[in-house]
Amino acid sequence: MRHRIAHRGYSAVAPENTLPAFAAAVRAGATHVEFDVRTTVDGVPVVIHDRTLDRTTTGEGHVWEATAAEVLALDAGSWFSPAYAGVRVPTLIETLELLAAPGPALLLEIKPPATLDQAKAIVELVAERGLLDRTIVQSFDPDVVALAGQAAPDVRRGLLRMSFESDAVDLSRELGVVCCNPPVDDVLAAPERVAELAALGIEVMPWTANDIDRWAALADAGVAGLITDRLGELTGWAS
Ligand code: G3P
Ligand code: CA
Repeated sequence: MRHRIAHRGYSAVAPENTLPAFAAAVRAGATHVEFDVRTTVDGVPVVIHDRTLDRTTTGEGHVWEATAAEVLALDAGSWFSPAYAGVRVPTLIETLELLAAPGPALLLEIKPPATLDQAKAIVELVAERGLLDRTIVQSFDPDVVALAGQAAPDVRRGLLRMSFESDAVDLSRELGVVCCNPPVDDVLAAPERVAELAALGIEVMPWTANDIDRWAALADAGVAGLITDRLGELTGWAS
């Protein structure tokens, strides 16, 4: 298994989708750092998973209804531990700057809703920092995957799935993605689909592989990597 992907950074030890989580992922041996991008009402891409600010910050309401100044004023660390009080929601630019040094690849998820202009702005920021070659842009929404391709025809793209039905193969081929990433349970239930995708040169990286007892079975199923919160343990296991 080649890839060790830190889900929202090394999110077992630091608040998800924050700069400390990304730095910890690098230190723990991630081959890829996964994170989620949304755009504020005033057009600033920020890194946060949920549709709302409620769970992981001291704010509330939809991310896309808040200004960047409002989002960046919030505490995004206290919910995880008092040790991380004062940690902020990072902008995409801050995240790219942290990850720009030689190191892991970037698995950048664009969360819907996203417009073509927003997808373009996100991919342009990646390109401006010379990180396009080290980045895979992924989304659960096939339309967003297509938008990313329109925004930057050369960027590698991935398709996230909530299940692993046979249509995943055709859809992945049509979209021209390099990876198709379904849930762990679905991959274990349909390992033949991993082989079908591999025959097309498309890798499978299941999420969220936090149960160590299942890592060997996933490797046997032929996955290219695991997306996990437990990056340090995966590095140890893989070695
Ligand atoms: O990259 C896989 C994973 O991040 C997809 O689920 O909800 O954590 O974004 P979610
Ligand atoms: Ca994600």
